[in-house]
Amino acid sequence: MMRSGLSLRVMILAALTVPIIVQSPEIFTLSVPHGPIMTWSNSSVSLSCELSPLFNAEPLEVRWYRSGDFDKPALLYKDHKIQEAPVDPRYRGRVSLTGGLERGNVSLTLERVTLEDRGEYVCYVSSEQWYEKDIVLLTVNVTGSEPVLSVAEARGGGGQVNVTCSSEGWSPQPKLTWRNKEGTEIRNEQVLNTTDPQGLVSVNSWLLYSPSDSDWLSCTVSLSGERRESRVMPRAPIEEHWSLGAFMTLLFINLLVIFTLIGLFIWNKKTGFIRLSTSEKNDNAEGETESNERPAEGVKKTDMEKATQTEFFLKESATQTALRESFPKVDVTLDPLTAHSSQFVSCSKKMVHCKKERDQASTTHFVLSENKFSSGQIYWEVVVDSKCKQPWYVGVTTTDAAQINKAIVPLNPGNGFWVLRYKKGNGYCVSTDPPTQFSGNENLETLGVFLDCDRQILSFYDADSGVHLYSFADVSSCSNTFFAVFSPGFDQVPITIK
Ligand SMILES: *[C@@H]1O[C@H](CO)[C@@H](O)[C@H](O)[C@H]1NC(C)=O
Ligand SMILES: *[C@@H]1O[C@H](CO)[C@@H](O)[C@H](O)[C@H]1NC(C)=O
Ligand SMILES: *[C@@H]1O[C@H](CO)[C@@H](O)[C@H](O)[C@H]1NC(C)=O
Ligand SMILES: *[C@@H]1O[C@H](CO)[C@@H](O)[C@H](O)[C@H]1NC(C)=O
Ligand SMILES: *[C@@H]1O[C@H](CO)[C@@H](O)[C@H](O)[C@H]1NC(C)=O
Repeated sequence: MMRSGLSLRVMILAALTVPIIVQSPEIFTLSVPHGPIMTWSNSSVSLSCELSPLFNAEPLEVRWYRSGDFDKPALLYKDHKIQEAPVDPRYRGRVSLTGGLERGNVSLTLERVTLEDRGEYVCYVSSEQWYEKDIVLLTVNVTGSEPVLSVAEARGGGGQVNVTCSSEGWSPQPKLTWRNKEGTEIRNEQVLNTTDPQGLVSVNSWLLYSPSDSDWLSCTVSLSGERRESRVMPRAPIEEHWSLGAFMTLLFINLLVIFTLIGLFIWNKKTGFIRLSTSEKNDNAEGETESNERPAEGVKKTDMEKATQTEFFLKESATQTALRESFPKVDVTLDPLTAHSSQFVSCSKKMVHCKKERDQASTTHFVLSENKFSSGQIYWEVVVDSKCKQPWYVGVTTTDAAQINKAIVPLNPGNGFWVLRYKKGNGYCVSTDPPTQFSGNENLETLGVFLDCDRQILSFYDADSGVHLYSFADVSSCSNTFFAVFSPGFDQVPITIK
């Protein structure tokens, strides 16, 4: 009775925010930080609150709540233990009192901080005779995505390109800076900020640039010491022309295949008739009883052949997925001897990944195929699982096992590398010299690789949709012996040969 009457009085007074002084020997105050407590999302933070004078807080009630949510606290300590209810479910499993209640430290530890956690927290401590509360302000900063750069022909032309940079998911507003190769800042007023309903900020900027000015441009988005940077070669028109070139090449190959097939089809029809008449002759020679059946069989067979041919023909002209049918997959296996000590190659020699998560800045090693290719058409598929993987690259190389441990050279055709690279947030890049960047399906699961040694073409496809990604038209070297090359980047998500 006494207790509830007292707490009711306490609460009414609390609502009026009038400081109360109940005559008691246990008068205390709280000491909290003056300014806001700042942290990054996903980190742990301690919201500091201490009794003054310091004394054992174990017999007291300690309540941490968001302003206005007294009845649904983030944490409630009462009757010598942390109470399961009533508490705010958003904080379940993330809050604790780790400072030492017996020493008067009632600080709240909050783990896996999210942007929604920012705001005012009330540290409320109550004894039988007295209560005190104070406010701790938490601010949360969020690091956004790596900037995505793209290059397009500028409106109005004039030899300039329009380079755009965008990055999302920041809080508060980050700073976006353009720099050239020399590291000199390029002043640019064209920064657009947009805030989504969760309060996360996206920044976008574009810049007109003369490709000859510098080898590359960098776009940095930074917030209080945290920075994300991406670079690009500002040479867009090449890519545009390339797409046209690639398209024409593919069109040519397709037409060639179609005409060959039509030719084969007609020829097959003719030979079919010949075979039919031969069998008729044979049957007649053998006797009259079977002569009715044998020719029928002959006809059936020819029809079946025709059907398979037509089916094949339709598939071929319909989509690129026909590659799977026309050039059956080659059984490509990894050569474990070429793997770096940080990499794990499965017993089946089909899968490779890093043994443990590596630093992003570390060199990304690659593994070669046991197979060597020097003639004909070869097709293989690799499960790259871009949704989960950070970076990877796949392609062909003339580098052999003997050279693998030599100095790391830039991956380009001059050094015997024709690869498609992917980096989460940055999209795709092929190892032309200079590299060509393009955006594409961020969730690419299976990559199809088609090497035509005779025509010196290497093509990459999204094997699930059949979409053509890129083709190199100049895959050649003195040795003309190629290995398939695979790099699982620096994370533990494997890449697997299908
Ligand atoms: C969060 O960002 C603000 C504004 O840039 C900065 O003043 C503050 O120091 C940052 N907080 C942390 C924990 O870095
Ligand atoms: C932070 O947490 C979110 C949500 O759990 C997660 O998606 C994100 O990858 C985390 N970021 C970092 C840098 O760990
Ligand atoms: C109180 O405990 C927190 C951890 O919860 C700690 O960060 C803080 O330094 C402690 N305060 C004092 C004065 O020891
Ligand atoms: C450059 O690209 C941005 C975004 O695509 C666009 O808003 C802007 O108008 C372009 N500027 C010129 C001059 O092409
Ligand atoms: C974006 O933010 C920057 C830096 O705070 C500011 O200078 C600029 O005016 C903002 N732009 C828009 C369109 O809000």
